[in-house]
Amino acid sequence: MSEDLEAKFLRKIEGEEKIEPKDWMPDGYCKNLIRQISQHAHSEVIGMQPEGNWITRAPSLRRKAVLLAKVQDEGGHGLYLYSATETLGISRDEMIHALQTGEAKYASIFNYPAQTWADVGAIGWLVDGAAIVNQVSLQRTSYGPYARGMVRICKEESFHQRQGYELMLVLARGSDDQKALAQDALNRFYWPSLMMFGPHDAESAHTAKSMQWKIKRQSNDELRQKFIDQTAPQIDFLGLDHPDPECKWNEERGHYDNGEIDWDEFYDVINGNGHCNRQRIEHHVRAHREGEWVRAAMQTYEARKKKAKAA
Ligand code: 3HC
Repeated sequence: MSEDLEAKFLRKIEGEEKIEPKDWMPDGYCKNLIRQISQHAHSEVIGMQPEGNWITRAPSLRRKAVLLAKVQDEGGHGLYLYSATETLGISRDEMIHALQTGEAKYASIFNYPAQTWADVGAIGWLVDGAAIVNQVSLQRTSYGPYARGMVRICKEESFHQRQGYELMLVLARGSDDQKALAQDALNRFYWPSLMMFGPHDAESAHTAKSMQWKIKRQSNDELRQKFIDQTAPQIDFLGLDHPDPECKWNEERGHYDNGEIDWDEFYDVINGNGHCNRQRIEHHVRAHREGEWVRAAMQTYEARKKKAKAA
């Protein structure tokens, strides 16, 4: 029986048909999706913290409004992705518990502090830029709810990336001090942005299976290379120095060569020893606790509505 089910599942995957919540799927496929989509959701929500700290410090009303809209978008992205994960049979409470206990990960990049206003530009440009490279590819993921969520999220990410780059352009063309701020932010966020694509394919625990099940459509290294190739000319256009002295165009490869990532730093951060890991989770625990009354009120409202309907 499960032989046929497995064969039918693989035929759907091969045939580029989306797997939907009601379809039979191997436990491993379901577990891998719960892991990846819930961690994606955690990343969106935790990612609101570094930029959120700058909403009250934005240098103009326009910048404040743009940043407010971006941070609100990220919260919405988290909700789409938590909802997509719930279709796989895990509850929101279970996911939040996994995040708050450190059982689940979120993107390492959000454990770096946003120290200056230029960091807000670098995050929009580089972090959202890297996220777009990854998420455009994920629009073709085999799980239906995830793929459809990605289409909606990518539309909003493009605005996030453009506003960040425009902020960096204004600084890079401003006073010497402003240009120095932009260079400092680029220097601190460039390498951690490359880490967003995960370990090298050869060291990746999940890539092979994820590619086979078409959860992932391109590998970590392939997507990272795409990001490196698009970012180098953008750094040039800003008139800033590239943080990677080995980043040079290789005509033969048709790509930029690049230096090696500090993988000790990467594993340090994803194992909880980054600059802000503890602070990010403490903030999430506090905010979640403070929001308990809203969840209770919504549940009471829903219960009353159901009771009134049944009466
Ligand atoms: N940060 C934290 N953990 C990471 C990581 C990173 N940058 N890169 C890899 N890892 C973890 C993986 O989760 C996995 O650990 P686990 O088994 O406990 O889950 C381990 O390191 C091995 O990595 P793999 O490459 O084998 O894992 P994946 O195949 O899952 O690839 C990934 C990692 C490329 C991040 C993939 O999970 C993915 O594409 N996720 C969806 C995209 C995503 O989550 N992006 C996060 C940023 S969202 C964002 O930036 C919001 C934007 O609006 C600002």
